[in-house]
Amino acid sequence: MSRDLENKIAIVTGAARGIGFGIAGKLAEKGATVVISDVNEENARQAADKIKDMGGKATYILADVSDFDQAHNLIQSTIEQQGDLHILVNNAGINRDMMLHKMTKESWDAVIAVNLTGVFNCMQPAAVHMREKEYGRIINISSASYLNGNIGQANYSAAKAGVIALTRTAAKELGKKNVTVNAIVPGFIDTEMTRGVPEKAWDIMVSKISMGRAGKPEDIGNMIAFLASDEASYITQGIFEVGGGMVL
Ligand code: NAI
Repeated sequence: MSRDLENKIAIVTGAARGIGFGIAGKLAEKGATVVISDVNEENARQAADKIKDMGGKATYILADVSDFDQAHNLIQSTIEQQGDLHILVNNAGINRDMMLHKMTKESWDAVIAVNLTGVFNCMQPAAVHMREKEYGRIINISSASYLNGNIGQANYSAAKAGVIALTRTAAKELGKKNVTVNAIVPGFIDTEMTRGVPEKAWDIMVSKISMGRAGKPEDIGNMIAFLASDEASYITQGIFEVGGGMVL
């Protein structure tokens, strides 16, 4: 694999496991220095160590993205410690699934706080820096439910739709400053989040995938590594499905 991200500094939120770790691994394989950010210190440290064991450059910074100050500190500390910030991947996300008529305000607020406000909290200070430097790549993780909705996921679907609107607006604002902003719509990816669904629901999800299998975190990582590369310098405001042909 070409190391075309050598000298690039990347932050991946929620990178201690799952899709985020798959993304961090691919960016590191391409030579980027990756800041693993998460709320889980043990997993974050292990994730950074794994990347270093594979010959990559990685460190970790703890940050709850739903907290404005912690997210700002993540961006500022990265710039201070690494000297710059070129790539921001907003991946951290949670689900608190329940039918709308049973949904608590707590579960609504928690999902919006992490999955939507968390993306804003990281993008806002990153945009200040990237505008100044006239270089940046921001990639946000949405979900297929943003367009179609998904039973039991009113909070999650609304947050992920917000991420799309945020992505497209930021792309319009930042394009002239050479900052690209894109969104990925993963299909059904094999992670601890999806392993949490009942077996029957797992089978139903897989039956909706043309390729007949769940995706792997690295499948998302490959797309992100491309969007962060020089070859993707004219790609912005895009919404890219990486889901093996999944139709919700
Ligand atoms: P996961 O649950 O396996 O990993 C999420 C990571 O985010 C964990 O390490 C967790 O500690 C961290 N995290 C949670 N809250 C955080 C916070 N407030 N601040 C910082 N980090 C936090 O989830 P998975 O499956 O890897 O999902 C990653 C992203 O992809 C999420 O945004 C999810 O909504 C999205 N997604 C996942 C799909 C799938 O099939 N797995 C499908 C579509 C979207």
